[in-house]
Amino acid sequence: MAPPPASRSVIRRLIYAAQHTACPCHGCRTGGTHNPLHAINQMRKFATPVNAPPIEKEYAFEVAASNLRFGEGVTREVGMDFKNLKARKVAVFTDPNLKDLPPVKMAIASLESQTDLPFVLYDRVVAEPTEASWRDAIAWSREQDASHFLAVGGGSVIDTAKAANLFTVYKDSDLFDFINAPVGKGLPIEEKLRPLIAIPTTAGTGSETTGTAILDITSMSFKTGIANRAMKPMLGIVDTLNTRTCPPELHISSGLDVLFHSLESYTAIPYTERMPRPANPILRPAYQGSNPVADIFSMWALKTTVEMLPRVAKNQDDHEAMRQMLLASSFAGIGFGNAGVHLCHGISYPISGLNKKGPKYKHPGYKVDHPIVPHGVR
Ligand SMILES: NC(=O)c1ccc[n+]([C@@H]2O[C@H](COP(=O)([O-])OP(=O)(O)OC[C@H]3O[C@@H](n4cnc5c(N)ncnc54)[C@H](O)[C@@H]3O)[C@@H](O)[C@H]2O)c1
Ligand SMILES: [Fe+2]
Repeated sequence: MAPPPASRSVIRRLIYAAQHTACPCHGCRTGGTHNPLHAINQMRKFATPVNAPPIEKEYAFEVAASNLRFGEGVTREVGMDFKNLKARKVAVFTDPNLKDLPPVKMAIASLESQTDLPFVLYDRVVAEPTEASWRDAIAWSREQDASHFLAVGGGSVIDTAKAANLFTVYKDSDLFDFINAPVGKGLPIEEKLRPLIAIPTTAGTGSETTGTAILDITSMSFKTGIANRAMKPMLGIVDTLNTRTCPPELHISSGLDVLFHSLESYTAIPYTERMPRPANPILRPAYQGSNPVADIFSMWALKTTVEMLPRVAKNQDDHEAMRQMLLASSFAGIGFGNAGVHLCHGISYPISGLNKKGPKYKHPGYKVDHPIVPHGVR
């Protein structure tokens, strides 16, 4: 005889336990304040009888603003931004492929157009960064000790710049101090980080709007990251010219990332269903479940992606569709940055991690010298 179906409350408790014990990435709901004891407590709660006194549910949500400037050709303003910020030295991050393409050239020309604005360039970011590639970028950044940071690239570049900024401020910390527990210690970020401006060149990750940075822990064959509002760029400069050089495969894979960010954040557990309610507002996570504000951004991004991504895939000259996809990417970032993502993203991380050891699949259209199942394709 088939077992009786599980009740709604049992399923909910299972989801809560999973949420609080597994924390792979930006799907993680505790905003970088994990510790293993907390995870164990959550498991204990799950193990208590269903009729035990209820744990208090969340009653509030908090919206963290992302600063964006959106327009055609706005990359040219970044030099003035750093001048206005009185930058002593700007550390510019990009990857070997992008360094010769128009988005980086335009950003560099803009920095050069300012008098007395020193900058240094790091162009070794690895697509879908690894522990080793982060360590290289961090070592370089600590040596440079720049006052300000600029990332020009896709999610890989922006995430690497976030990590470089964090570990330049925390100059004696180890990488695993801030990586989500249980892989790392998941320590809170208490110091103020240096100003980071992010210029995305893919319509995908929305990393210019989030406090998340993802890396591949190759030795353990999976991805995880650091999730903390402190790492959010001070400004995202979203220039509609900057995705023009993306090959079709990149448009499609990064566009699929937008689709899943918006879909998953819209269908995330509502914030009112989360338990336990934080005892102190500082413990309220960035990824707090679906909520009325995130829903607006996620739904707009979802509708736009469903309409525009097929147009981009069919016609590389459809600049209006590309423009809308870039906006959708940032909107979805604001949506999932405040609500979180879930199953599809959780499943994607082992696929990426194991690919490097096993099948070694390399997606067409990606100019990289290592196996890659692009994040959005997973
Ligand atoms: N921080 C977050 O919130 C967040 C969210 C989702 C994904 N991610 C992470 O971001 C990474 C994926 O980023 P992505 O999809 O933006 O791609 P990417 O940054 O990995 O870039 C992929 C390739 O595309 C090239 N490229 C980028 N822009 C180009 C352009 N305009 N023209 C030509 N080539 C270009 C790059 O040089 C690179 O070779 C993954 O590591 C993923 O886990 C982060
Ligand atoms: Fe994603």
